[in-house]
Amino acid sequence: MRILVTGAKGQLGTDLVKELNGRGHDVIAIDIKDLDITRYADVEKYIRAAKPEAVIHCAAYTAVDAAEDNIGACMRVNCIGTGNIAKVCGDMNIRMLYLSTDYVFNGEGERPWEPEDEADPINTYGMSKYEGEKVVKQDVLKYFIVRISWVFGAGGSNFVKTMLKLGKSRGAVSVVSDQIGSPTYTPDLSVLLADMIVTNKYGIYHATNEGLCSWYEFACEIFRQAGMDEVKVTPLTTEEYPVKAKRPKNSRMSKTKLDLKGFNRLPAWQDALGRFLEEIGEKRA
Ligand SMILES: NC(=O)c1ccc[n+]([C@@H]2O[C@H](COP(=O)([O-])OP(=O)(O)OC[C@H]3O[C@@H](n4cnc5c(N)ncnc54)[C@H](OP(=O)(O)O)[C@@H]3O)[C@@H](O)[C@H]2O)c1
Repeated sequence: MRILVTGAKGQLGTDLVKELNGRGHDVIAIDIKDLDITRYADVEKYIRAAKPEAVIHCAAYTAVDAAEDNIGACMRVNCIGTGNIAKVCGDMNIRMLYLSTDYVFNGEGERPWEPEDEADPINTYGMSKYEGEKVVKQDVLKYFIVRISWVFGAGGSNFVKTMLKLGKSRGAVSVVSDQIGSPTYTPDLSVLLADMIVTNKYGIYHATNEGLCSWYEFACEIFRQAGMDEVKVTPLTTEEYPVKAKRPKNSRMSKTKLDLKGFNRLPAWQDALGRFLEEIGEKRA
């Protein structure tokens, strides 16, 4: 299949392009230097000329805290940019897969969110990604929306790399322990996305590695597997760790729909973390 991937130099895009190439697809891997998705005329011209059969849209404004002070920039990329791509995919009647986030939910309660639950974002980034979902649903018949969370991979900066750096430089970290969710390892997610894009099982999905944890538990497991047991990890409440953007406390996401539609779930997050640490040469235990 001829597949265009936006955000191809980003954390997810890097591994997704590898996975798709490995499966023998004809991949058009683009990033902001090739095409700024906020310019409709350019988007239309580029995609029409490239003639893809599907677009996997990974490009996004992903700086969650900075978004609170840069609402316009965030909305331009995540809402208008996504809308530009959706419009062209809709007009060409090709498949579009849009990556979204657990941050479309308000984080209340403890029940895992189902894909059809009502969104109610509590920060600017979440709002912009939800607006992106709406334009995709509106303009594209053959759409997939895949909500992911707590992403880590070799091709970007992420929580795991930050913890390793802070652990080495300071020997102690304080981490929020009352936000619960699931990490998502980009090579594992890429397998699912590559499985999905060749089907016509359109709709909204949740996809993360299996199992739940808090950021505190995630940090403890990082240091355990990296053989850095000497690092002191202190649990904090959300209120004790003020940041610009509000974060949902409950980011549990139900993956039942993957089973129902015949897709394989991702492996356990601890296993994924181990493979990631191996990949970046930090695995000790
Ligand atoms: N990271 C997470 O924890 C997380 C969680 C949930 C959902 N997601 C979603 O998953 C997807 C992939 O995330 P990621 O972590 O791989 O993101 P990422 O590493 O930040 O990559 C996003 C890419 O999009 C590019 N981009 C930004 N503005 C653009 C524009 N106007 N035109 C074209 N390209 C543009 C970026 O280029 P520059 O670097 O030059 O700006 C970057 O290469 C995104 O849709 C994100 O919203 C991520």
